[in-house]
Amino acid sequence: MRDLTKKCACGRPAILLRRYEGRYYCDHCLSKQIEKSFKKTTGKNHLIKKNDKICIALSGGKDSSSLLYLFWKVFRQRRDLKIFALIIDEGIGNYRKECIKEAEKLCKKLGIKLYKTSFKKELGITIDKVAKKTSKTCTYCGVFKRYLLNKKARELGATKLAVAHNLDDEAQAIIMNVIRCDLKRFERLGPIPGVIRDKKFVPRIKPLRQIHEKELYLYAATNSLPFCSKECPYSHDNVRRDVRKLINDLEEKYPGTKIQIVKFYDAIIKKLAIQKKGKLGHCKKCGEPTNQEICKACELLERLKNTKKD
Ligand code: FES
Ligand code: ZN
Repeated sequence: MRDLTKKCACGRPAILLRRYEGRYYCDHCLSKQIEKSFKKTTGKNHLIKKNDKICIALSGGKDSSSLLYLFWKVFRQRRDLKIFALIIDEGIGNYRKECIKEAEKLCKKLGIKLYKTSFKKELGITIDKVAKKTSKTCTYCGVFKRYLLNKKARELGATKLAVAHNLDDEAQAIIMNVIRCDLKRFERLGPIPGVIRDKKFVPRIKPLRQIHEKELYLYAATNSLPFCSKECPYSHDNVRRDVRKLINDLEEKYPGTKIQIVKFYDAIIKKLAIQKKGKLGHCKKCGEPTNQEICKACELLERLKNTKKD
């Protein structure tokens, strides 16, 4: 990626060519661009309000570490805001343990309080155990994680839950929902996903949804953020893997594809005005917010109890 013969507009050696702009960037100017995008997404979509208590969903990876750092850098002077981080150990061998160490280092460096919890402690299950019963590990993991992030963030008094979805994630999610014709999930994408009118639901915000995954990696690396680059051993969601490859190939051939997919989504949602209309009820078993009688997490936990092996 680094071509030392190429220079940024400022004269420093370039580390990245933004093909959709036809411009080279050095580490310094790229960081400035990323910070600008973060500010633009939070400002334009009113993601942060006065006196917000922002819980950052940390995983220890490059995206959420960059997210935490950006919040610290951009908002640390704001006395009215409270920023803290939350990490969840899913129970996947040593994978998350190593990421937690990096997350601890980063939070210590920035002076941000880090809260930790685990599937084992909260749900009495680990993903390693789930994997013994079903091949749909990522589905279970995703549902449990969303469930716990919301519950814990709320218990910690958060008014916003910031998640590190980047431009690549967002474009993939849009196309995946098109392929699956899942209008319900499709509606819930966007900078503030989900149904927000419920006192038990902490609105989730996505300030990185306009930033390329590759650029976040460079941002984390050039700002010397501690982060873990290991991949989850269970990440073999076939549809997502295929969609990722498809979009990456298109981006290679037609630079700017990812940005256009997300822009197109935002335009449709605005036109249809379908976002954030619904109301939530509460799960009959655990009391957490859901639009069903029983929430998805309780349903999956029950299914696991009754499953010997897929
Ligand atoms: Fe949950 Fe990989 S992080 S299955
Ligand atoms: Zn429930």
